[in-house]
Amino acid sequence: MATETNLPASPSLSRVHGDVPVHGGGPLVSRLLEGAAADDLLASARGLPRIALDARTAADAELIATGGLSPLTGFMGRDDYRASVHDRRLASGTLFPIPVTLTAPRSELAGVAEGKRAALVHEGDIVGVIDVSSVFEVDRDAEASEVYRTKDAAHPGVAWLFSHKDEVGVGGAITLARRTVPRAFPAHTRDPAEVRALIRERGWRTTVAFQTRNPIHRAHEYLLRCALETVDGLVVHPLVGETKSDDVPAAVRVRCYEAILDGYFPPSRTLLTVFPFAMRYAGPREALLHAIARQNYGFSHFIVGRDHAGVGNYYGTYDAQLAFDELSPGDLAITPVKFEHSFYCKGCGQVASPKTCPHEAGERLTLSGTRVREILASGEPLPAEYTRPEVSRILIEAYRAKESS
Ligand code: ADX
Repeated sequence: MATETNLPASPSLSRVHGDVPVHGGGPLVSRLLEGAAADDLLASARGLPRIALDARTAADAELIATGGLSPLTGFMGRDDYRASVHDRRLASGTLFPIPVTLTAPRSELAGVAEGKRAALVHEGDIVGVIDVSSVFEVDRDAEASEVYRTKDAAHPGVAWLFSHKDEVGVGGAITLARRTVPRAFPAHTRDPAEVRALIRERGWRTTVAFQTRNPIHRAHEYLLRCALETVDGLVVHPLVGETKSDDVPAAVRVRCYEAILDGYFPPSRTLLTVFPFAMRYAGPREALLHAIARQNYGFSHFIVGRDHAGVGNYYGTYDAQLAFDELSPGDLAITPVKFEHSFYCKGCGQVASPKTCPHEAGERLTLSGTRVREILASGEPLPAEYTRPEVSRILIEAYRAKESS
């Protein structure tokens, strides 16, 4: 295993100096209390009206409180919600392409009103408070058409939206006294401030982040390798919040990420740390939001490949990349690193993309999700050109365990 730690000077890196700015230009939002202050907040919240967080909003709350969604200090109110849906921005003009909302049935909001404080409850316990700035109607039709570009209930993000259709939005700054995300991967869990500190400690002047909700196959690995050639550090930053039911569970994926990083990348150049956020599957808009969050974690570069955060055929292959091209200067401080659709090519004898491969389609190995599941069900390893054997073994084992449960 390589242990080289000296960072060679590289002319391409001279552009980035110091910490990557927090999105919106302010400080990293910090609204998670500890110790006596946390206990006092919980005690003071006991008599307040209560609003329940579910797994998704609980993840949002902790990410907001620890700065991952800066400059948000809470769930969006009416003005930010409208601006986000229609203009991809907060009312202040700061880029924020997906609304982050807390919604609840009106019937459960007795005593919740603008200008008042309410308790946030997760799994039966008070975890913090929200200082309510607005209670507002959510326009789900507009949100679906603008954010997801479809009102088709077969789209998992739209389905989630419409499954909450009788609920109203409750916006306002939050303060947490308890964390709201279970520590499923303690060795790989870090707040944005901790990740920023680690990047500084490692002396990485530039850091490329990789968002993923899949096991790392050879095409992904190619992206990682190419990107790492041009920066100081690579952060595999898998999304481990809610995903759709046929995505590979986070616990299985994390084992795959460990196997790839342990076996094929130098530890001094890489970091595996998880991103506790639910997938929206909003394609281009979500790619921008993923980038914003990664900027808040302190990464300078962000990989955007084929159909980033897409699902089905709702978005064009490179729509997510185009979304970055449409931004105004200053909208983001993180730089997208764009990749074309990559595949193993027999003619090239390696992974390549249309940008680098001159061969016919017949030379290129592409496997559909259905074919991958068929192979795993048969207990055969996936082709080595498609997936590293270590990853194949973990997936076969997980597939068997699922089938026998
Ligand atoms: S995503 O929902 O997180 O985007 P996935 O884990 O499949 O899904 O993709 C992670 C990142 O790798 C995204 O930026 C995606 O665009 C990119 N990507 C995935 N597969 C390929 C591929 N074969 N070629 C190029 N980019 C890819």
